[in-house]
Amino acid sequence: MTLDATLSRIDADMPAALDRLMALLRIPSISTDPAYKAECDRAADWLVADLASFGIAAEKRPTPGHPMVVGHVPGDGPHVLFYGHYDVQPVDPLTLWDRDPFDPAIEETPRGRVIRGRGASDDKGQLMTFVEACRAWKEVNGTLPCRITFFFEGEEESGSPSLIPFLKENADELKADLALICDTGLFESRVPAIMTQLRGLLGEEITLTGPDKDLHSGMYGGAAINPIRVLAKILGNLHDVAGRIQVPGFYDGVPDLPEDIAQQWQALNFDHGTFLGGVGLSQPAGETDKTPLEMIWSRPTAEVNGIIGGYTGDGFKTVLPSKASAKVSFRLVGQQDPHAIRESFRAWVQAQLPEDVTAEFHGHGASPAGQMSTEHPAFEQARAVLGAEWGHDAAFTGCGGSIPVAGYFKTILNMDTMLVGWAKDDDQIHSPNEKYDVESFQKGIRSWARVLDAIT
Ligand code: BES
Ligand code: ZN
Repeated sequence: MTLDATLSRIDADMPAALDRLMALLRIPSISTDPAYKAECDRAADWLVADLASFGIAAEKRPTPGHPMVVGHVPGDGPHVLFYGHYDVQPVDPLTLWDRDPFDPAIEETPRGRVIRGRGASDDKGQLMTFVEACRAWKEVNGTLPCRITFFFEGEEESGSPSLIPFLKENADELKADLALICDTGLFESRVPAIMTQLRGLLGEEITLTGPDKDLHSGMYGGAAINPIRVLAKILGNLHDVAGRIQVPGFYDGVPDLPEDIAQQWQALNFDHGTFLGGVGLSQPAGETDKTPLEMIWSRPTAEVNGIIGGYTGDGFKTVLPSKASAKVSFRLVGQQDPHAIRESFRAWVQAQLPEDVTAEFHGHGASPAGQMSTEHPAFEQARAVLGAEWGHDAAFTGCGGSIPVAGYFKTILNMDTMLVGWAKDDDQIHSPNEKYDVESFQKGIRSWARVLDAIT
C-alpha cells in the first residue's frame, strides 16, 4: 500500500522532478577545470538546498578540492549510504553539440523523450533518481523507510583526489550497512543490472623529448630523431597481433573467468552486433580468443586516449618537433596491481628509447579493480523487485567502467556496495549531446522506491 502510494506520487510529481533536474543541469560543475571551481561549489549548495526542501539536513563539507555533500536521516532498520557525483566531464568539442550543454532541454526523439545536456545521465540524472524517490517516500509516509546517509562527491570525473582522506577522516560518520551507487546502466539498455565487478583504472602521461628545439624538417629531417615517430612505434607495440598487451607482467593477477560466471554471462545472450552497430562498428577489436562481453567486463585493456605533438593547426608546417606526448590508460581486472603495472610500463617504454630521446612520466590515478560481494540480503531483495518495474528480470553483470569509490567503501569503511543504475548505452556519457531518457529517470525513481521498500 505504502509502495503503491509512493509510486503514484512519483508519477504525479514527474513535471516538478524534471524541473528540479534541469536546474541542477544548468550548473556547469566541471570538476577537472579550475575555471569552474565556483560552479562546483554552487552545485553542492544546490544539492544541500534540495535535500532541505523535503526536510533532510545536509551540509557542504570542504575538502582541498571540491566540496562533498553529506546528509543524514535517522531511522530504524538497515543503515544505507547513497553515493552519487555532482561533477561532470568537460564539454569539448563544443562544436559537436546540437545545443548549449548547460542549457538542458527535453526533446522528443523517435525513441522517446530525452533530457539533453551535460550530466543528464552521468551522473546528475542518476543521482536525482534516488533523491526523488526519497522525496516521494517522505511526502507520502512522513518519514523515510530506514536510516539513510546521503553522500555526494564533486571530483569523481577528475580522479577523486580528496576522496580517500575524506573517507578516512569521516569513517565513523559514513560507515553504513550497505552502500548504494547509482552511476551505472541497464544491460543492453533494457535489463536492470546489478553490477558485481568494476574494472580498475591506471592513467599515464608520457612525454618524449628528442632535439632541444623544434627544427625545420628539410634542414634536419633524416639526420635528427623525431620523437613522434618514436612515440608512435612504442604505442604501436602496446598490443601484439592477437590483441594481448606486451608490457611485462601486465597479466599478473588477471584471473580466468570462473565457470559459473561464464555461464551466467552466456545466458545473457549479449548481442555484440547491436552493441557495436550502435557506434558504427561491426567487429570486436580485443583479444582474439575472448568473447565481446569478456573483453569489456573481465579483461584488462591498454588504450591511447590522446596524442599531442608537432603541428596540428590548419594548413601544413614542415616541422620536426622537439617533443611528443601521449595519454595512455589501462583498465584493470582481478588482482592486477596498478602500481606494479605503472613501474613496468615506464621501464618498458624506457627500454625502447633510442639514443638522444628521453622520457618523462606523469601518473594520473591508480585504482584496482573491484569485486562486489553479493552476500548482503539486499542484493537478492533488489533483484527480485526490479523486474516488476522494467519487465525483465534483473541480472548480476560485470561493468567495463571504473568507479573507484566502490573499492574504497570496502577497503576503508569495510562496507559492501550495490551498484545499480538506469543509463542506456546510447546516453553518450562523456561525449557531445549527452542525454538521459525520461523513461530512465521516471522508472529509475520508481525503482529506488521499490528497492527501498524491499530492503527495509
Ligand atoms: N559513470 C561512470 C562509470 C561508468 C562508465 C559506469 C560506463 C558504467 C559504464 C563514471 O562517472 C566514470 O566515467 N568513471 C571514470 C573513472 C574516473 C576515475 C575518471 C571512468 O570509468 O573512466
Ligand atoms: Zn559517473
